[in-house]
Amino acid sequence: MLSLEHIHTRYGKVECLKGVSFNVQAGEIVALLGANGAGKTTVLKTISGLIHPVAGEILFQGKIISQNSASEIVKRGIAHVPEGRKVFQKLTVLENLELGAFLRTKKEALQGMETVFEIFPLLKKRLSQKAGTLSGGEQQMLAIGRGLMSRPSLLILDEPSLGLAPLLVATIFRMIETIHKQGKTILLVEQNARMALKIADRAYVMETGCIVLEGDAKKLLEDPAVRSAYLGG
Ligand SMILES: Nc1ncnc2c1ncn2[C@@H]1O[C@H](COP(=O)(O)OP(=O)(O)O)[C@@H](O)[C@H]1O
Ligand SMILES: [Mg+2]
Repeated sequence: MLSLEHIHTRYGKVECLKGVSFNVQAGEIVALLGANGAGKTTVLKTISGLIHPVAGEILFQGKIISQNSASEIVKRGIAHVPEGRKVFQKLTVLENLELGAFLRTKKEALQGMETVFEIFPLLKKRLSQKAGTLSGGEQQMLAIGRGLMSRPSLLILDEPSLGLAPLLVATIFRMIETIHKQGKTILLVEQNARMALKIADRAYVMETGCIVLEGDAKKLLEDPAVRSAYLGG
């Protein structure tokens, strides 16, 4: 479904991605792991058209999208939920959700809304509340909900559990599994490698702009070398 081929991305003169290649097949949850600063967010921004690669190709459903604009990429069916739950604090829950569907027809937006309420029933009760008054966990649900409003076939999540209390982390992971069961393909960036590997089919590990390890998620979870390097033993 998605394939990155030798992607190089720069910030000014600094090369941040140094030939990243990986793929996501339809129906999978693929985890992208690695320490802070490894380049995970940059990979996601490059996929969603917020930055363009200086070399390499990105293919989505057989078409090259490497130089497409961010809104063209949303139209093609990729939704990117950025790091740090960036919801519009002063807008209501409903307004935030509507913004997620700005490229869709009214009918599609209503269908999207139904899907979001199925997964996050809590949001339905808070529609007229300002997003800034929601708890951290609720804002994360809203950020994911807004991503789902564009009715993506591929949902990209950047650190959805970051900064949440352990109980909420478990809730968010369960919700990601529910979204997956409803037919979405998911690319998941997470600091919480253990939880991510538990729900993922496959995973890639990044270090300083390169993929250094890849494999079946359950095998990585049991691998002693992976456990000591990335999972705290
Ligand atoms: N806007 C930017 N300008 C310059 N350097 C950046 C920018 N964003 C990230 N970087 C650098 O690129 C590297 C990878 O960052 P990032 O993709 O955010 O990593 P991760 O998400 O894995 O923590 C880091 O060294 C970071 O300092
Ligand atoms: Mg990041």
